[in-house]
Amino acid sequence: MIKTLFLGGGAMASALIGGILRDPNQNNALFVVDPDSSRCAALTNAFPGIRCFPKVSSELMANVDLLIFAVKPQQMYVVTQQVQPYITQIPVALSIAAGVRTDTITRWLHGFPRLVRAMPNTPSLVGAGISAVYATADVDDTARQMVNNLLAHVGDIIWLDKEAKIDAMTAISGSGPAYVFYFLESLQDAAVTLGMSAEQARFIALSLVNGSLKLAQFDNRAFTQLRADITSKGGTTEHALNVFDAAGVKKVIGEAITAALARAVELGNVMDASHPPRHE
Ligand SMILES: NC(=O)c1ccc[n+]([C@@H]2O[C@H](COP(=O)([O-])OP(=O)(O)OC[C@H]3O[C@@H](n4cnc5c(N)ncnc54)[C@H](OP(=O)(O)O)[C@@H]3O)[C@@H](O)[C@H]2O)c1
Repeated sequence: MIKTLFLGGGAMASALIGGILRDPNQNNALFVVDPDSSRCAALTNAFPGIRCFPKVSSELMANVDLLIFAVKPQQMYVVTQQVQPYITQIPVALSIAAGVRTDTITRWLHGFPRLVRAMPNTPSLVGAGISAVYATADVDDTARQMVNNLLAHVGDIIWLDKEAKIDAMTAISGSGPAYVFYFLESLQDAAVTLGMSAEQARFIALSLVNGSLKLAQFDNRAFTQLRADITSKGGTTEHALNVFDAAGVKKVIGEAITAALARAVELGNVMDASHPPRHE
């Protein structure tokens, strides 16, 4: 059994635990630390078999195979200080805290080097996420596999060779669900303007995006080609796409993602500067 300890039992930890427990072949013994007793009670109710504790102890940290930081970024410093006295024997620690870099966590953990950082996204909450993952050089293949198996329970995984790419993925797939929802909103609004009820417009937007997605997954050709297939010369689609092009929609999407990337880098710097090193 893999002893897996979650620090923080919130939305993301619940999604991961739910995903793990849906797998009949899973071999994790699951432990959680969360100071909120109602959260602990809710977790152990929802997932019989897991154990939840209000704080870290040496007994709990003993023989942990995989430690997971699943707290808010601004709670990371406090949590690292709580586990630091017991961490040296842990094979690998995974952080899903947005924007907190591995060098920052290593510094807060007084030099602990075996870190994996992951950026999941909200569809992970329904098992359909994408996680961007980066491991420091000290993480061995067994530990990588352990992390991979865990995150695979809530969706797809992209391993990255450079940590800076986590910031890029934060801008693309981390924030990405909001871009898709923005498009859904726009479709819904347009359908209402054209006379559909709000309920019909919501149904139409979801069905349209869902169907197009399925077609793109089924048909391996480039997205451009799929688009060309329904864009006949002088037809309705061409008229609509001409308006997109004239407004520079593609360029604006690129600029929006670049702005998100700049903010991700900035937030990483803010987190790094938020607490001074205790040991140089
Ligand atoms: N939700 C997502 O889809 C998503 C996507 C990508 C990345 N993430 C990252 O995942 C992390 C967790 O997000 P979340 O949405 O699961 O947050 P959350 O629901 O707020 O869960 C965090 C939990 O940790 C608890 N906690 C606070 N201090 C603690 C301590 N010292 N030891 C142990 N537990 C402590 C919190 O309790 P209190 O509420 O009492 O403080 C809360 O129950 C964040 O860093 C976020 O950036 C989340």
